[in-house]
Order: sequence, then structure tokens, then C-alpha cells
Amino acid sequence: MEKIVITGGKPLHGAIEISGMKNSAVAVILATVLIEDICVIENVPDISDVKICFDILTSMGIKVRLISANTYEIDSRVATGGKSPYDLVRKMRASYYLIGAELGRFGKAHVGLPGGCDFGVRPIDQHIKGFEALGATVTVEGGYVDAKTDGGVLGGHVYFDGVTVGGTMNVIMAAVRAEGQTVIENAAREPHIVDLANFLNACGAQISGAGTDVIKITGVKNLHGCTHAIIPDMIEAGTFMIAAAATKGALHITNVIPKHLESVTAKLTEMGVCVEEEDDAVFVSNCSDTLSKINVKTQPYPGFPTDLNPQMCVLLCLSDGDCCLTEGVWDNRFRYVEELKRMGASISVDGKTAVVEGNTLFSPARVRAVDLRAGAAMILAALVADGTTEIEDVHHIQRGYDNIVEKLRLCGADIRLCEYKDIVDTSMAN
Ligand code: EPU
Repeated sequence: MEKIVITGGKPLHGAIEISGMKNSAVAVILATVLIEDICVIENVPDISDVKICFDILTSMGIKVRLISANTYEIDSRVATGGKSPYDLVRKMRASYYLIGAELGRFGKAHVGLPGGCDFGVRPIDQHIKGFEALGATVTVEGGYVDAKTDGGVLGGHVYFDGVTVGGTMNVIMAAVRAEGQTVIENAAREPHIVDLANFLNACGAQISGAGTDVIKITGVKNLHGCTHAIIPDMIEAGTFMIAAAATKGALHITNVIPKHLESVTAKLTEMGVCVEEEDDAVFVSNCSDTLSKINVKTQPYPGFPTDLNPQMCVLLCLSDGDCCLTEGVWDNRFRYVEELKRMGASISVDGKTAVVEGNTLFSPARVRAVDLRAGAAMILAALVADGTTEIEDVHHIQRGYDNIVEKLRLCGADIRLCEYKDIVDTSMAN
């Protein structure tokens, strides 16, 4: 097993290049099931969720080849549906995209229920509602989702009861090769939805309106291969922006789309942090010695991202007063709070709102990454803490952050990844 060991107290200085976006990469890679041709995908992040996607494709007979750094060739001319091993799909939330992709290509899908971070109940009822609107009969039994059509998917009208990123992307995948037109209303507007639509359109699909709440898809019979570069990861960028502010450092964060970071820039600016936007970079530095207290509410894009809730919580702990952090997407995103409390934070959670006391002096502790973004928050708190912190369960962090240890080390952090054995100490047992 591996743990991250950090001795805090050093401001971060330097440049960090942002990798391709996890939540776009996993969707685009699994969408290649639809293509029946060869695609080249560039700017693919080196993270374990992507590796799982490639393993899933390989298990379906699809050929995946690394052709240069972060660039993969995916040959989906031959593929078998319904074969994805349960052990693989249950490791990752995004494996639900196989349902849409298999439905789109084969007119049927048989996929294990997805895994992923534990934020309370994570239903896929809206995905299923969408597939049913496209003529599929869907049953969930014995841990599997089984979707069938009578000779292929038909265009249909889908209204989502709540904004769902995965539901929107999944219905797009199911609809691109359908007979007729599909309209999705109350669609999610996240940049990765636009990225998926751009990729599929480059393959010959006819998708319009991605990035708005109404998406129209005119089905086409066949798709062809293309070369596509994954957009930069706005959550990785946001994490490093917060890291610069928390450590009172100065980071030049490159390969970003500043527009995607507007909500983060706005909240950091409100706290007194200096954020300068460039064409494809942001420069973050601490303009004033204190961080002003603010309230934050996470929301679907273009709101403040839920995937920066834990990291932002660390910054609120360092502000000059009490702050409210309200979660507007997931039922239970505050599991990390107990771990932050072990490092000296004072936070009380009531339902979907946390009251965060400012002026926290983080102290080192042995803590766990309870999920991916929670793990990033532990790293941020440890970078500020006076002493050495050990973070366990780093496999969660490795699911979504490309090379985070090295990127931070090159900016002056005292951070390392170490092997350890999780041995229960029995010396006191008798
Ligand atoms: N929801 C339903 N029914 C559904 C689908 C969603 O009730 O059928 C609810 C969820 O329970 C949640 C809300 O709708 O309360 C939003 O869920 P959404 O479908 O948007 O989330 P997701 O697609 O499963 C993706 C990201 C998450 C990110 C959310 C929100 C991937 C693989 N995951 O999840 O990313 O938090 O969108 O932006 O794209 C992460 O990267 O750390 C992460 C968890």
C-alpha cells in the first residue's frame, strides 16, 4: 500500500501544468465503443480511472495502444458487448457510460452497476428514464443493468428531473446512432459535456446545444474515427489554485481554460486572493495576508463545483471568521470533515451545510483520503500544517489526480509517496 507523507509550512511557488480532465476522458474513452473505427485521443491523464476504462475496452476486444505521451490509439472496429467484467465496472462510477455506448452500438447493454466515491445514494434512475424514452426496456437485477431495444434505439424526448452530468452524457451516447431526433431538456452544462459532443461530432455525429440546457441530437447510421484532445481538468486546476492561496504561495497554472474556472476565481477573489487570467493559464498569489471569510454553495456548472467542496473547506478553515459551506449536488459530501477535524479544524455539519470556523492552525496527523476530492483536501491541509502528516488510502487520490505528488514537489512542497504495510500491531495483544 502507499501513503503520502507531507511536511507542511512551505509556500508553493512555480508553474504547474494541468492534465486532461478525468471526467471528460472517461466519457470520451468509453464513447469510442460507438465508433467502429480508429480514434486517437490526446491529452489523456495518467490516472487509475482511465486505466480501468482501457481495461474495460480491452475486455470487450477493443485494441488500445499508447502511441506517445498521453496519446492513445483506440481501435473499436471489433467489439463485443455485454462482456465487461463486474470487477472492473464496480471500481468506477463512469462505467455507467457503457450502458449508453453499448445501447448505441448494439441496441442492447448488459453492464454491472457502477462503483465510485461514496457520497450517499448515487441513483441512476434518470439515466434509465432517458434510455426508456429512447425505446429501451431496462431492468436492474442481481447487480446488473440490462437494457434491450427492438432492433435499435429510437430518437425521443428526455426531460431530466434534476441536472445530471452522467445522465446527460449517457443519453447523448445512446442517441447519436439512433433512428430520428432526440431532445434532452434540463441537460447538464458542464464543459465535459461540450467536450464529449465535440468528440462525437468530429466522428460524424450531429449534436447541437451542448453547453446549454437543451441538447438536440439527430441520429446518424455510422460514425468514423477522429483525433481529439481532452480538455484541461478544471477540478485539478481549481485544487492547485486553492493550494496556492492556502500556502500563501504563488502558482502559474498552465494549460487551463480560464472561463471554466470563473466560479473558483470569483470566490478566491472574494477572499482577497489575487487571480490573474491569461489566455490559457491563471496566476494565483496571495494579495493580502488574511483570507476574508465567505460563504460558498456548490452547484452544477457554471456554479461553484461540488468536486472542489472539500478543498475549498480547507481554505475556509484558514479564513478570518466563520463561513458557511453548502453542498448543492450530493446528499453526503462531508465525510472528509472528521479527517480534517483530526488536523485541528473546527467544523459542524448539519445536513447539507457545514459551518466552518476560521483561523484554524492545522496540526499534523495520520489521516485517510476517504474519497478522491477528500484526499486532495487532506493534501492541502497537510501542506499548511506545522509538522508531518501521513495520508493513507491514496488510491482514491490516484483515481483522479495525474502525478500530484511530483507536481507539488516541483513547486517546493516537502511531499513524498511511500510504500507501507498495513500491519496490525499485535505486540500488545496478550
Ligand atoms: N442523480 C439522480 N439520479 C440520476 C443521476 C443523478 O438522482 O439518475 C442525482 C445524484 O444523486 C446527485 C445529482 O443528481 O445528487 C448529480 O449527479 P450527477 O449525475 O450529475 O453526477 P455523476 O454524473 O454521477 C459526475 C462526476 C462527479 C461529480 C458530479 C457532479 C463523473 C465520472 N463523475 O458524477 O465527479 O461530482 O458529476 O458534478 O463524471 C469526482 O470527479 O470527484 C466526482 C465525484
